[in-house]
Amino acid sequence: MSPLLSARGLTMRYPGSTVPALSDVSLDVLPGESVAVMGASGSGKTTLLHLLAGILTPTAGSVTLQTAQGPVAVHALDDSGRSRLRREELGFVFQQGLLLDELTALENVAVALMLNGVPRALAQAQASQWLAALGLTGLEDRRLGALSGGQAQRVAIARAQVTGARLLFADEPTGALDSRTGAEVLDLLLAAVAQGRTLVVVTHDAQVASRCDRVVTLSDGVIVADTRRTPATETTSAKARA
Ligand SMILES: Nc1ncnc2c1ncn2[C@@H]1O[C@H](COP(=O)(O)OP(=O)(O)OP(=O)(O)O)[C@@H](O)[C@H]1O
Ligand SMILES: [Mg+2]
Repeated sequence: MSPLLSARGLTMRYPGSTVPALSDVSLDVLPGESVAVMGASGSGKTTLLHLLAGILTPTAGSVTLQTAQGPVAVHALDDSGRSRLRREELGFVFQQGLLLDELTALENVAVALMLNGVPRALAQAQASQWLAALGLTGLEDRRLGALSGGQAQRVAIARAQVTGARLLFADEPTGALDSRTGAEVLDLLLAAVAQGRTLVVVTHDAQVASRCDRVVTLSDGVIVADTRRTPATETTSAKARA
């Protein structure tokens, strides 16, 4: 199967830092798989996610995303190209940041479509369907700031999918939730994978990782393990670097 997303030799050196946050990382993400990215605090997980998603531009290396219009060199896009790619092709579920407290649940989801030029009435109708699918019927008109953490993450998951994005990125989506609510949020993300989407999720939570198809482990900016779980067996290829 050819990869949906392909990273080669990704290196990220933040301005002013002497050591790179990520060094020569290569990774293929297959369509329809769920990939957990684990590692200690500061190991480069968020940096990798942001490079894969075109939020950051790498110091060196490439990221190629397959789209309906053909392959896109994510690392080479300018700012407007990257924000368009994120709006149209990718979905994001972060611990906080993308949703607006002052907007209602419905508006937070609909705005993702309206940014892509979908008229308000149609955007709101589709947003309403996604909120219902995520168990939020009756809360459409509630301001986001007046929802619980778990409810807000459901809104984020609706927003990530409403545009039809095939590739979802999540950074610690359950980090601020109690374990039961976190498990419910993960259920919803994995339901999206079961429906054919692809998920890259950064997590500290071994429970979350154990339910993904694959676990990529970072240490000091390099991949030190890449474990894939097949239905019957588990295979490990640990590539410890010298
Ligand atoms: N904007 C920045 N400028 C300079 N250094 C940064 C910046 N962002 C991250 N770093 C550094 O890059 C390294 C990797 O950071 P990153 O945020 O990717 O880690 P992480 O694995 O996501 O950690 P955490 O689990 O704490 O979220 C760290 O040493 C961090 O201090
Ligand atoms: Mg992080």
